[in-house]
Amino acid sequence: MTDIEWSQELKLGVPAMDAEHRRLLALTNDFLKAAGADAPPERLGRILGELIARTRIHFQAEETLLDRAGYPGLAGHRAAHERLLVDAQRLYERFTAPPAQRGHDGESAQPGHVGESAQPGHDGESARGLALEAAGFLQRWLVDHIVSEDRAYRPFVMRLT
Ligand SMILES: [Fe+2]
Ligand SMILES: [Fe+2]
Repeated sequence: MTDIEWSQELKLGVPAMDAEHRRLLALTNDFLKAAGADAPPERLGRILGELIARTRIHFQAEETLLDRAGYPGLAGHRAAHERLLVDAQRLYERFTAPPAQRGHDGESAQPGHVGESAQPGHDGESARGLALEAAGFLQRWLVDHIVSEDRAYRPFVMRLT
């Protein structure tokens, strides 16, 4: 899976936020690398869990900064952060669920169907599908949010310094 490269497009010119975004990007690339190497779901889940924890901290720092800057779009920005965390958490739970319950879109398998997923090849295939889905989500998650929603607060935060 291709790494996401740090670029001028992602750079906001707000040093504290740029540094945090770069760290999140590095962790996302760790995930992509592990997923590309067919790492077990448990390992991918651990990386995703760490990414969510660090993102949560970043979102709080960013919201504090936007509050200080009197950013008029803060409520919407906060809601976007919340949505991203909910989606990421749902994905994380699918990685940490027992293989038989690793359904699509967070759906759990029915208790009576548990045995079906135990067929050879099935778990490996669904784990790969889940890894690919997560990789796509993370790429959109990080890059799209930074280049659109984060970029919008730039002029307001720049006035602070
Ligand atoms: Fe943000
Ligand atoms: Fe951000």
